[in-house]
Amino acid sequence: MDKAQLKAQVAAAAIERVAALHNDDLVLGIGTGSTAEAFIQLLGPLRARIDTTVSSSERSSTLLREMNIPVSDLNAVGEVDIYVDGADEANADLQLIKGGGAALTREKIVAGASRQFICIADESKLVPTLGAFPLPVEVIPMARSYVARQIVALGGQPVWREDVVTDNGNVILDVFNLLIDQPLTLEGQLNDIPGVVCNGLFALRAADELLLGTPDGVRSLTR
Ligand code: A5P
Repeated sequence: MDKAQLKAQVAAAAIERVAALHNDDLVLGIGTGSTAEAFIQLLGPLRARIDTTVSSSERSSTLLREMNIPVSDLNAVGEVDIYVDGADEANADLQLIKGGGAALTREKIVAGASRQFICIADESKLVPTLGAFPLPVEVIPMARSYVARQIVALGGQPVWREDVVTDNGNVILDVFNLLIDQPLTLEGQLNDIPGVVCNGLFALRAADELLLGTPDGVRSLTR
Protein backbone atom coordinates (compact mmCIF):
# COMPACT_ATOMS: atom_id res chain seq x y z
CA MET A 1 0.00 0.00 0.00
CA ASP A 2 1.38 3.44 -0.82
CA LYS A 3 1.07 6.49 1.43
CA ALA A 4 -1.91 7.88 -0.48
CA GLN A 5 -3.81 4.65 0.14
CA LEU A 6 -2.89 4.67 3.84
CA LYS A 7 -4.12 8.28 4.11
CA ALA A 8 -7.37 7.43 2.32
CA GLN A 9 -7.86 4.54 4.72
CA VAL A 10 -7.52 6.67 7.88
CA ALA A 11 -9.60 9.43 6.32
CA ALA A 12 -12.41 6.90 5.82
CA ALA A 13 -12.06 5.76 9.44
CA ALA A 14 -12.37 9.37 10.61
CA ILE A 15 -15.50 9.78 8.50
CA GLU A 16 -16.96 6.80 10.38
CA ARG A 17 -16.21 8.52 13.69
CA VAL A 18 -17.99 11.67 12.52
CA ALA A 19 -20.95 9.70 11.13
CA ALA A 20 -21.35 7.98 14.51
CA LEU A 21 -21.95 11.31 16.32
CA HIS A 22 -25.57 11.67 17.36
CA ASN A 23 -26.36 15.25 16.37
CA ASP A 24 -27.52 16.34 12.94
CA ASP A 25 -26.22 19.89 13.19
CA LEU A 26 -22.56 19.01 13.19
CA VAL A 27 -19.90 21.66 13.63
CA LEU A 28 -16.72 20.12 12.23
CA GLY A 29 -13.16 21.34 12.66
CA ILE A 30 -11.15 20.72 9.51
CA GLY A 31 -7.38 20.48 9.44
CA THR A 32 -4.71 21.14 6.84
CA GLY A 33 -2.42 18.96 4.77
CA SER A 34 -2.69 15.98 2.45
CA THR A 35 -4.30 13.64 5.00
CA ALA A 36 -6.86 16.26 6.04
CA GLU A 37 -7.57 16.80 2.33
CA ALA A 38 -8.25 13.07 1.91
CA PHE A 39 -10.79 13.51 4.72
CA ILE A 40 -12.37 16.56 3.06
CA GLN A 41 -12.78 14.61 -0.18
CA LEU A 42 -14.95 12.05 1.67
CA LEU A 43 -17.26 14.57 3.38
CA GLY A 44 -19.85 14.73 0.57
CA PRO A 45 -22.25 12.07 1.91
CA LEU A 46 -22.30 13.80 5.33
CA ARG A 47 -23.11 17.25 3.90
CA ALA A 48 -26.78 17.18 4.97
CA ARG A 49 -25.76 16.60 8.60
CA ILE A 50 -23.14 19.38 8.67
CA ASP A 51 -24.36 22.67 10.09
CA THR A 52 -21.00 24.29 9.39
CA THR A 53 -17.25 23.82 9.53
CA VAL A 54 -14.33 25.75 10.97
CA SER A 55 -11.17 25.40 8.96
CA SER A 56 -7.52 25.75 9.96
CA SER A 57 -6.31 27.23 6.66
CA GLU A 58 -7.36 29.22 3.62
CA ARG A 59 -6.43 26.19 1.50
CA SER A 60 -8.84 23.85 3.34
CA SER A 61 -11.56 26.54 3.37
CA THR A 62 -11.33 26.79 -0.42
CA LEU A 63 -11.64 23.02 -0.82
CA LEU A 64 -14.68 22.94 1.47
CA ARG A 65 -16.41 25.76 -0.39
CA GLU A 66 -15.76 24.00 -3.69
CA MET A 67 -17.78 21.11 -2.26
CA ASN A 68 -20.57 23.48 -1.16
CA ILE A 69 -19.79 22.83 2.49
CA PRO A 70 -20.19 25.98 4.60
CA VAL A 71 -17.18 27.45 6.42
CA SER A 72 -17.65 29.73 9.44
CA ASP A 73 -15.54 32.01 11.57
CA LEU A 74 -14.81 30.28 14.87
CA ASN A 75 -16.19 33.33 16.69
CA ALA A 76 -19.60 32.61 15.17
CA VAL A 77 -19.87 28.99 16.28
CA GLY A 78 -18.41 28.61 19.76
CA GLU A 79 -17.56 24.98 20.45
CA VAL A 80 -16.65 22.54 17.69
CA ASP A 81 -17.97 18.95 17.90
CA ILE A 82 -14.97 17.20 16.44
CA TYR A 83 -11.68 18.24 14.86
CA VAL A 84 -9.95 16.01 12.31
CA ASP A 85 -6.40 16.78 11.24
CA GLY A 86 -3.10 15.19 10.31
CA ALA A 87 0.29 15.49 12.01
CA ASP A 88 3.97 15.51 11.15
CA GLU A 89 4.88 13.29 14.12
CA ALA A 90 2.99 11.62 16.96
CA ASN A 91 4.10 9.76 20.06
CA ALA A 92 2.30 7.05 22.04
CA ASP A 93 0.83 9.71 24.38
CA LEU A 94 -0.86 11.26 21.32
CA GLN A 95 1.30 14.36 21.62
CA LEU A 96 2.08 15.77 18.20
CA ILE A 97 4.34 17.91 16.08
CA LYS A 98 2.29 19.89 13.59
CA GLY A 99 2.88 22.82 11.30
CA GLY A 100 4.71 21.32 8.36
CA GLY A 101 2.09 23.11 6.26
CA ALA A 102 2.55 26.34 8.29
CA ALA A 103 -1.03 26.23 9.64
CA LEU A 104 -0.07 25.41 13.24
CA THR A 105 -1.61 28.44 14.97
CA ARG A 106 -5.08 28.05 13.52
CA GLU A 107 -4.79 24.29 14.00
CA LYS A 108 -4.01 24.71 17.68
CA ILE A 109 -6.88 27.16 18.10
CA VAL A 110 -9.42 24.84 16.45
CA ALA A 111 -8.07 21.82 18.35
CA GLY A 112 -8.43 23.77 21.59
CA ALA A 113 -12.00 24.76 20.76
CA SER A 114 -13.06 21.20 19.93
CA ARG A 115 -14.71 18.63 22.17
CA GLN A 116 -12.86 15.83 20.41
CA PHE A 117 -9.64 15.82 18.36
CA ILE A 118 -8.97 12.93 16.03
CA CYS A 119 -5.54 12.83 14.44
CA ILE A 120 -5.18 10.89 11.20
CA ALA A 121 -1.84 9.78 9.77
CA ASP A 122 -0.01 6.98 8.07
CA GLU A 123 1.93 4.77 10.48
CA SER A 124 5.31 6.35 9.60
CA LYS A 125 4.29 9.38 11.69
CA LEU A 126 4.34 7.41 14.97
CA VAL A 127 7.72 7.83 16.68
CA PRO A 128 9.14 6.84 20.09
CA THR A 129 10.33 10.42 20.79
CA LEU A 130 9.24 13.62 19.04
CA GLY A 131 11.83 15.83 17.38
CA ALA A 132 13.27 14.17 14.28
CA PHE A 133 10.81 16.32 12.33
CA PRO A 134 11.94 19.97 12.71
CA LEU A 135 9.57 21.75 15.08
CA PRO A 136 7.73 24.68 13.41
CA VAL A 137 7.43 27.90 15.42
CA GLU A 138 5.31 30.80 14.15
CA VAL A 139 6.91 34.16 14.95
CA ILE A 140 6.01 37.84 14.59
CA PRO A 141 8.31 39.02 11.73
CA MET A 142 10.17 41.73 13.73
CA ALA A 143 11.07 39.18 16.43
CA ARG A 144 12.56 36.56 14.09
CA SER A 145 16.27 36.99 14.98
CA TYR A 146 15.61 37.51 18.68
CA VAL A 147 13.42 34.41 18.90
CA ALA A 148 16.00 32.41 16.94
CA ARG A 149 18.68 33.32 19.52
CA GLN A 150 16.41 32.29 22.39
CA ILE A 151 15.75 28.96 20.69
CA VAL A 152 19.50 28.37 20.29
CA ALA A 153 19.79 28.94 24.06
CA LEU A 154 17.23 26.14 24.52
CA GLY A 155 19.42 23.79 22.46
CA GLY A 156 17.65 23.97 19.09
CA GLN A 157 18.87 25.01 15.65
CA PRO A 158 16.28 27.32 14.09
CA VAL A 159 16.06 27.74 10.32
CA TRP A 160 13.89 30.48 8.81
CA ARG A 161 11.40 29.07 6.24
CA GLU A 162 12.14 31.98 3.93
CA ASP A 163 9.54 31.31 1.25
CA VAL A 164 6.60 31.15 3.66
CA VAL A 165 4.28 33.76 5.17
CA THR A 166 1.54 32.24 7.31
CA ASP A 167 -2.20 32.89 6.89
CA ASN A 168 -1.71 35.25 9.87
CA GLY A 169 1.08 37.27 8.20
CA ASN A 170 3.90 35.81 10.29
CA VAL A 171 7.07 33.82 9.62
CA ILE A 172 8.06 30.25 10.48
CA LEU A 173 11.24 29.03 12.16
CA ASP A 174 11.82 25.27 11.81
CA VAL A 175 13.79 24.04 14.81
CA PHE A 176 16.19 21.16 14.20
CA ASN A 177 18.07 18.91 16.61
CA LEU A 178 15.59 18.93 19.49
CA LEU A 179 15.17 15.69 21.38
CA ILE A 180 11.72 16.34 22.79
CA ASP A 181 11.42 14.07 25.80
CA GLN A 182 9.42 16.65 27.81
CA PRO A 183 6.90 17.98 25.25
CA LEU A 184 4.70 19.81 27.76
CA THR A 185 7.66 21.67 29.26
CA LEU A 186 9.13 22.65 25.90
CA GLU A 187 5.75 23.77 24.56
CA GLY A 188 5.48 26.20 27.49
CA GLN A 189 9.12 27.37 27.23
CA LEU A 190 8.70 28.25 23.57
CA ASN A 191 5.40 30.02 24.18
CA ASP A 192 7.11 32.13 26.85
CA ILE A 193 9.53 33.73 24.34
CA PRO A 194 8.23 37.19 23.38
CA GLY A 195 7.44 37.22 19.67
CA VAL A 196 6.43 33.56 19.48
CA VAL A 197 2.84 33.30 18.32
CA CYS A 198 2.58 29.55 18.56
CA ASN A 199 4.72 26.43 18.36
CA GLY A 200 3.92 23.15 16.66
CA LEU A 201 4.00 21.00 19.80
CA PHE A 202 0.53 19.76 20.62
CA ALA A 203 1.13 18.43 24.13
CA LEU A 204 -1.18 20.58 26.25
CA ARG A 205 -3.93 19.80 23.72
CA ALA A 206 -2.88 16.35 22.50
CA ALA A 207 -5.14 14.29 20.26
CA ASP A 208 -7.93 12.23 21.84
CA GLU A 209 -7.58 9.49 19.27
CA LEU A 210 -4.83 8.71 16.78
CA LEU A 211 -5.88 6.74 13.72
CA LEU A 212 -2.90 5.22 11.93
CA GLY A 213 -3.03 3.79 8.44
CA THR A 214 -1.11 0.49 8.18
CA PRO A 215 -0.98 -2.21 5.50
CA ASP A 216 -2.95 -4.41 7.94
CA GLY A 217 -5.72 -1.85 8.42
CA VAL A 218 -6.37 1.14 10.67
CA ARG A 219 -4.83 1.10 14.12
CA SER A 220 -6.44 3.24 16.83
CA LEU A 221 -4.61 4.69 19.83
CA THR A 222 -6.54 6.55 22.52
CA ARG A 223 -5.62 8.37 25.71
C1 A5P B 1 -0.18 21.57 8.63
O1 A5P B 1 0.32 22.75 9.15
C2 A5P B 1 0.32 20.39 9.38
O2 A5P B 1 0.14 20.45 10.74
C3 A5P B 1 -0.25 19.11 8.83
O3 A5P B 1 -1.29 18.63 9.60
C4 A5P B 1 0.84 18.13 8.81
O4 A5P B 1 1.93 18.73 8.10
C5 A5P B 1 0.44 16.82 8.16
O5 A5P B 1 0.41 16.95 6.77
P1 A5P B 1 0.22 15.69 5.84
O6 A5P B 1 -1.12 15.12 6.16
O7 A5P B 1 0.28 16.25 4.45
O8 A5P B 1 1.33 14.75 6.14
